[in-house]
Amino acid sequence: KPIVLSGAQPSGQLTIGNYLGALRQWDRMQDDYDCLYCIVDLHAITVRQDPAALRSASLDSLALYLACGIDPNRSSVFMQSHVPEHSQLNWILNCYTQFGELSRMTQFKDKSERHANNVNAGLFTYPVLMAADILVYNAHQIPVGHDQKQHLELARDIANRFNALHGEIFTVPEPYIPGVAARVMSLQEPTKKMSKSDENPWNFVGLLEDPKMISKKFKKAMTDSEDPPRVAYDLENKAGVANLLSILSGVTGKSIDSLVAEYEGKMYGHLKGDVADAVIALLEPVQAKFHEIRQDQSLMNQVLKQGAAEARARAAVTLEKVYDAVGFVLPG
Ligand code: AQP
Repeated sequence: KPIVLSGAQPSGQLTIGNYLGALRQWDRMQDDYDCLYCIVDLHAITVRQDPAALRSASLDSLALYLACGIDPNRSSVFMQSHVPEHSQLNWILNCYTQFGELSRMTQFKDKSERHANNVNAGLFTYPVLMAADILVYNAHQIPVGHDQKQHLELARDIANRFNALHGEIFTVPEPYIPGVAARVMSLQEPTKKMSKSDENPWNFVGLLEDPKMISKKFKKAMTDSEDPPRVAYDLENKAGVANLLSILSGVTGKSIDSLVAEYEGKMYGHLKGDVADAVIALLEPVQAKFHEIRQDQSLMNQVLKQGAAEARARAAVTLEKVYDAVGFVLPG
């Protein structure tokens, strides 16, 4: 089976964007792929995190992965920091990545503007760690959202460069584009993507939020002032309404066209209420499972221990090949 690797940063509470764009896909891939899913805590500290909040968000992420259907008996689930081989390979790949390449990464440009008081070296070399995450398992397919495409391209360049110098050590990864590319946008600023670390909590819906809050957030969602109001999928002029339609389509499986027909002549409030109800119904069983799992510390520890052991066993094989290839003396 082709190897798949993916992960999310514990930089806040996972959102319905992370669910529709990633977790749901990860769950579906488990039968056909050899999957590794990690919680990328090393990546999260490229932006300053409160230690207690980071620890709790990491454990919440693990419980949410499991509650969303990630099965530790079919996939390896682990914390990135529990597998030191990621960091070890990261160092080596740093030496095979050019300053100019990293300077061209648009996410670095965006994030360094947003976090101008903390433009640290980790933020700059973030894509190299991501390349190490992928290449250390020789992953074939990487589910990527639009904003990670450039990073995956860099991982491919690094792999090709290393292979050209040292022989076929790394598998060159391919992007995996899921059927419907769900990109959930911010509720208040629908031209930017929904992000779990957004400063304004009205912009996102977390997977653990209570139903009343979810209803309020959708009720308050930005739409437009077209008179009379018209439910249509027009990304340019009606980004807010388009986002609501796309969330409803993602959750219910109904096509955008059929939803547009269904809401002809109806008010935005009607659409908002239905999106909220659909999201609440989707999250109800996820939240119930989450609370069960989150309380079971021994289950969580067990999953992490097993996941890290599986991942380390695989990563160590690649790392040894790399150490040998670059000319390090292997321990006897
Ligand atoms: N709004 C989104 N719509 C669809 N997919 C999304 N993903 C993130 N946001 C959306 C996908 O979720 C996976 C995990 O992402 P991540 O946590 O590694 O980083 P991110 O893309 O930076 O996610 P956030 O929520 O925006 O985090 P912060 O706020 O910390 O930067 C990825 O597969 C991503 O495509």
